[in-house]
Amino acid sequence: MCGIVGYVGKRNAVSVLLDGLQKLEYRGYDSSGIAVIEQAQIVVEKSEGKLANLRDKIKDMTLESGIGIGHTRWATHGRPSDANAHPHTSQNGKFAVVHNGIVENYLALKEKYLAGDHFTSETDTEVVAHLLEKFYNGNFAETVIKVLDVLEGAYSLVMICADEPDKMIACRKDSPMVLGVGEGESFIASDVSALLAYTRSCMYIEEGELCILTQDGITIKNHALQLVEKEIHTITWDAEAAEKGGFEHFMLKEIFEQPEAFKRTLSGRLHGNQVHFDEFSLTAEEINQWQKIYIVACGTAYHAGLVGKQVIEKLARIPVEVEIASEFRYRDPMMDEHTLVIVISQSGETADTVAALREAKMHHCKVLAITNVVGSAIAREADYVIYIWAGPEISVASTKAYTTMLIAEYLLGVYLAQQKEMANLDERAAILEGLQQLPEVSAKLLTESYLAEVQRAAERYGMAENIFFIGRGMDWAIALEGSLKLKEISYIHAEAYAAGELKHGTLALVTEKTPVIAICVQKSTYDKTASNVKEVKARDAKVLAIINEGDTQTAKFVDQTMEIPKINNFVIPVLAVIPLQLISYYIAKIRGCEIDQPRNLAKSVTVE
Ligand code: G6P
Repeated sequence: MCGIVGYVGKRNAVSVLLDGLQKLEYRGYDSSGIAVIEQAQIVVEKSEGKLANLRDKIKDMTLESGIGIGHTRWATHGRPSDANAHPHTSQNGKFAVVHNGIVENYLALKEKYLAGDHFTSETDTEVVAHLLEKFYNGNFAETVIKVLDVLEGAYSLVMICADEPDKMIACRKDSPMVLGVGEGESFIASDVSALLAYTRSCMYIEEGELCILTQDGITIKNHALQLVEKEIHTITWDAEAAEKGGFEHFMLKEIFEQPEAFKRTLSGRLHGNQVHFDEFSLTAEEINQWQKIYIVACGTAYHAGLVGKQVIEKLARIPVEVEIASEFRYRDPMMDEHTLVIVISQSGETADTVAALREAKMHHCKVLAITNVVGSAIAREADYVIYIWAGPEISVASTKAYTTMLIAEYLLGVYLAQQKEMANLDERAAILEGLQQLPEVSAKLLTESYLAEVQRAAERYGMAENIFFIGRGMDWAIALEGSLKLKEISYIHAEAYAAGELKHGTLALVTEKTPVIAICVQKSTYDKTASNVKEVKARDAKVLAIINEGDTQTAKFVDQTMEIPKINNFVIPVLAVIPLQLISYYIAKIRGCEIDQPRNLAKSVTVE
């Protein structure tokens, strides 16, 4: 999500930090800041907007220091602003902190330890700086351990202390960070691209380890402050490969980031069998006044809405219509104060979706936004917001934003049912259990052998001129997303059909030259979909089927199968779309396409 960099050594820390932040700006770019120790005082400079604003602000200052931390932000708690930009400091100004991730229990920590403190930002991070001051016993490392003991959530933190100006301390949990080893200098960054100009020797930090960086070297300790031995690795990537984390394209990197993104989307929102949103709360009375819900979105977000419809209707029993934003606003939809309009948008800036939101507000509807970007137009103008916290998505073809939108919809569906006190308690509990398993199960899915299987399929079908995707119910919804991915990046003509509709027209197009990708994971519709698959097989189409682990039937009548690991069948679309993302990726690669920036398309479409 955010970019972090830290330096201690003989150079001027300010230029190392700015240089490192420039390399990390692709990770987050709504504000940035640095903190250095100058004559035993912490000096902080920060600025909203691009890094250039910070450079401008400090260009005439004579900041000289051999130690400092820097941050480029992708907002999660609190909109982008100077005040919310990192580093954050303690009340006495003796500690400064940069943070990537989310401190889930920051409100509880404020109440328990910091009542009466004056906070200057809306962030969860500032709590960490205040706790360092509160717990300080004259030993920085011991104090950090005490603070870590009370933090919940996912974080990487780098901290400095004016009273111990020769060192900085860093730690991580569920959030990446790497150490750079130099001669008479030490570095830390959220990814290696910030270090490459200075060193290629790096060490990786494990969860729970404390890294103490000085100009004489880096010491790593465990929770009991005992020394831990570390191996030094040599980085062989060039700068471009480093930015992509060693992946060939941002799209593949973002597919692989999904397990971490899932953790963030769920972070702080599950309490036993209850869903809770920090951002808003709704009473049964408020929910019951909505007789209908519209979900309005574009592109991939629209496809996420098609899953959302099924989730909300099943769990909360409120009728849902899903509309393409550019259609919705021009057709005078029937809506009033008894309608909830849910807008979904990764960027939060898509012009058609913003316009639909405004139309809904004009009709006195309440609007709930599901978005990735804090402070975006959609987030600002909606009444309620659920952030998906997918982190910056750079590839035009959306992957982790789509799957985290689905997770947000499951959370919302369960939440609406729970607030309405509906009787489906067991069903909700099983769904929440499935959601919690997603990070782990999705990480297991993304193995070398699975990728090899997908590549085999890509080689087999990648030269086709037309590919059809079929499925029923939620399988159809993800088939639509799979076909969009394929057309976007491989330029193959691809369409998705409700499997039962094939025989009403499209079957006429099926020949041995039109491969079919059949999604067969929804158990309730399996038998019917299987019959439709046999229909296309009878027309000589080659079929790749996405199936449940343990399904021994389908392989008997299709050409290739790819398994999805066992998980609650209702949340399985989040996993079942992953092979579809991958197959599009590998087909596009085989065809030599420009994967991250496909022709004619843009990541954020701000024209109608
Ligand atoms: C563009 C992108 C798509 C995206 C759509 C909606 O067309 O290329 O990947 O799904 O916009 O974007 P949003 O930011 O509103 O989710």
